[in-house]
Amino acid sequence: MTQNKVTPAQGKLGILVVGCGAVSTTFITGVLMARKGLTKPVGSMTQYDKIRVGRGADARYLHYADIVPLAKLDDIVFGCWDVYPQNAYQAAMYAEVLKEKDIEPVRDELEKIVPMPAAFDKNYAKRLDGDNVKCSMVRSSSAGLQGKNGQCSMPTRWQMVEMLRKDIQQFKAANDCARVVVLWAASTEIYVPVCESVHYQLSDLEAAMKADDREHVAPSMCYAYAALSEGAPFIMGAPNTTVDIPAMWQLAEQTKMPIAGKDFKTGQTLVKSGFAPIIGTRCLGLNGWFSTNILGNRDGLVLDEPANFRTKEVSKLSTLETILKPDVQPDLYGHGNDEDTQYYHKVRINYYPPRNDNKEGWDNIDIFGWMGYPMQIKINFLCRDSILAAPLCLDLCLLSDLAARAGRFGIQRFLSFFLKSPMHDYTQGEEAVNHLYQQYTMLKNAIREMGGYEPDEEID
Ligand SMILES: NC(=O)c1ccc[n+]([C@@H]2O[C@H](COP(=O)([O-])OP(=O)(O)OC[C@H]3O[C@@H](n4cnc5c(N)ncnc54)[C@H](O)[C@@H]3O)[C@@H](O)[C@H]2O)c1
Repeated sequence: MTQNKVTPAQGKLGILVVGCGAVSTTFITGVLMARKGLTKPVGSMTQYDKIRVGRGADARYLHYADIVPLAKLDDIVFGCWDVYPQNAYQAAMYAEVLKEKDIEPVRDELEKIVPMPAAFDKNYAKRLDGDNVKCSMVRSSSAGLQGKNGQCSMPTRWQMVEMLRKDIQQFKAANDCARVVVLWAASTEIYVPVCESVHYQLSDLEAAMKADDREHVAPSMCYAYAALSEGAPFIMGAPNTTVDIPAMWQLAEQTKMPIAGKDFKTGQTLVKSGFAPIIGTRCLGLNGWFSTNILGNRDGLVLDEPANFRTKEVSKLSTLETILKPDVQPDLYGHGNDEDTQYYHKVRINYYPPRNDNKEGWDNIDIFGWMGYPMQIKINFLCRDSILAAPLCLDLCLLSDLAARAGRFGIQRFLSFFLKSPMHDYTQGEEAVNHLYQQYTMLKNAIREMGGYEPDEEID
């Protein structure tokens, strides 16, 4: 064991969540209930998992907090931003994920979490129409939105950054926080393709923000820029492009802050990244994988818009490609009719209000075996979206805060375990690791290393 150089988790940890919707309120309510001893944080690796440290006769299985200094649930203070003004209690009731009996005991605390006005651009989520949005005052009424305090218009992207930085500073001071983490659990924005002239260099991104380039700079980029500039790690829980661009990696390096994303790996993709290795490990062939879902919450509503769904689709499709590779095993994965180069992979999300947050996913997997004989596998997952996402929020926040105290900055690959399309340096041809068990090894080794133990690849 070597010297542990991680700064202790002293003082309060502010968790500022972008979005006060189903995922955020389920996460926040669960943490508040757990620290009162009224529920258990089931599904959270940081609260339950045990990792082996040492080998042979020296082997011990320890919780993460016994290996590295993690922030305690009692030390967390929550804040948020949202387009809608409802406090976290009202938002939790609206989301209808949790029963009233699981919300009421922490009602007072939830009511105090009132969303700060959002940095929002309706073009990025057309189905949302809340008015709790940031605005900048203008003289002419023809210039834009009607704000609460008179005539106002959407701030420029750079003004958004400045306003968000102030929010973070004020939240930190008002709540006496030693550290802050910013987590995006807001709606999926429309697809923003990476544009080399804007997204590759930090100076270009800053120039675009100052020029109010609304096409290439999504509001989420303003949150990320503000967080990193304020010394807060930033986590992207949606599939948005946001921090998945070299300019943001540069900012994270400059500010020495960790970043992670994209898209919480919850239901169908969790199953996919855990199940695909069964096919790959036994050298079975794949002709096609069709995944569909029905979902009726506000997330589903936003994703019903094709431009928003495109962002999700790209994220969900990326999972299989790095696990079952046609170029490595053309006989097994080079078939199908996806441009005749590989198996057919299709993902659909259908907005269906009666199901609300209780998403139902179907997977039909067409595999083939010995001498090419076809077989089918069907998976029907009746899940609860936010119940699966909440523990990931907790783990991503606690582990990003840990990484910052351990002096780790830039893309945190060990957090891929929690994410559907993990960040990786695509400019250097790096491939994301999507295989669930390889991701788990990366996670365990990062914890071991930060705890001063040797990394290893032994399976247990
Ligand atoms: N639940 C899951 O299993 C899961 C898995 C992966 C990713 N996600 C992603 O997590 C995100 C949250 O999901 P949800 O079910 O809580 O959705 P939700 O619609 O209930 O909540 C999202 C909230 O974000 C707010 N919002 C939108 N743009 C904003 C902005 N610019 N600033 C501040 N607030 C903004 C909306 O008003 C809304 O209240 C979605 O992007 C979803 O795709 C969820």
